[in-house]
Amino acid sequence: MLLGYLFISSNPSAMNLPFVSQNELVVGLDIGSHAVKVCQLKRTSNGYAIVTLGSTVLPEGAVEDGTLNDPEVVSKAISDLLQNLKIKNKKVGFSISGYSVIVKKVNLAIMDDAHLEEHIMAEAEQYIPFDIEDVYLDFQDLKTGVKETDRTDVMLVAAKKEIVDDYLDMIRSLKLTPVIVDVDGFALENSYEYNYTKNENVALVDIGASKMSINILSRGISVVARDIIVGSRQLTEQIQNVFDLDFEEAEALKLGATQDEEKRGEIEDIFATTCTQWILEIKKAIDLYHANHADHPLQRVILSGGGAKVSGLVDFLAQETDLQVELFNPFLNMASNDKKIDPEYLKNIGPEMAIATGIALRSSVI
Ligand SMILES: Nc1ncnc2c1ncn2[C@@H]1O[C@H](COP(=O)(O)OP(=O)(O)OP(=O)(O)O)[C@@H](O)[C@H]1O
Ligand SMILES: [Mg+2]
Repeated sequence: MLLGYLFISSNPSAMNLPFVSQNELVVGLDIGSHAVKVCQLKRTSNGYAIVTLGSTVLPEGAVEDGTLNDPEVVSKAISDLLQNLKIKNKKVGFSISGYSVIVKKVNLAIMDDAHLEEHIMAEAEQYIPFDIEDVYLDFQDLKTGVKETDRTDVMLVAAKKEIVDDYLDMIRSLKLTPVIVDVDGFALENSYEYNYTKNENVALVDIGASKMSINILSRGISVVARDIIVGSRQLTEQIQNVFDLDFEEAEALKLGATQDEEKRGEIEDIFATTCTQWILEIKKAIDLYHANHADHPLQRVILSGGGAKVSGLVDFLAQETDLQVELFNPFLNMASNDKKIDPEYLKNIGPEMAIATGIALRSSVI
């Protein structure tokens, strides 16, 4: 089941977003705290093919905790990236994350859509910690338990208007038309659903520069969704502090772009300590899942985001959780022209592109 058109299909008018027709695909824009990722797809006779994709690193601090601190710098980066990639389509989707978005599952009596909307609008304040006037609100009936009970789970999403509006204004200033506002964890789920086996019990974990989004699906339905403030920038900052380096030098050491034998042992220690912390957070979410879904044990963990590429992390997590762990490949089921896009580049950028791809696939469900 496709969850993440939360924020899209039910009331685009709330944000003045135009409707997208069945046949149109949008450009997927993932504006992270480290880099902007862009992906454009096209339909083929048996699925989707990549038209183009790319990413550009943002200056430190331009985007923090899901907030657009420096719209001018970010809009310039997006505009340059779209120009380099020769993207002409003006309709874009983007996703939000961080403290300004609350995702919450509530269990309610089964109602038709109109009554559900009425109920949620009237009762939202008891579910979310924000003033209802200050948020965009959307929901989706997960249609769980319809057979067994007269109750159903409903996924609620509330996002602070002022944060979302900053993104909308920035995108409109580029003469682009925002048509979809997604949520990182749900875009990830969309990408997963297109490429992987549906209906399995799986943890999707995206480790970016400054946050980790966890979305656990039980038989295709999202049951645990949370963001945790850890990420690969932690590694850079620790390397910076320990060796008294600037950000770029530390980042290069982290990525292995520069080597320093003398520092190796200490860098390995930093990796081990931080990865242990990430794994503890993932295990907490998995334990919570198992406490509530003992009959449907988790089958695997799929890691995305730049942080997922930390060498050894996949094996370390597999060892610690006794689960099958793999890197996300958002292009698993997609055609690509090897002459236009280097397969090595595609393989390497895959984990970072999972969210942008999930957004780019989005209009297919509207
Ligand atoms: N091989 C690697 N090992 C460790 N870290 C890596 C590797 N490759 C990329 N990264 C890190 O991943 C991060 C970028 O990943 P990504 O693009 O997913 O983040 P983001 O979406 O910008 O951040 P966020 O989602 O947290 O806002 C950077 O911190 C980068 O240094
Ligand atoms: Mg990200």
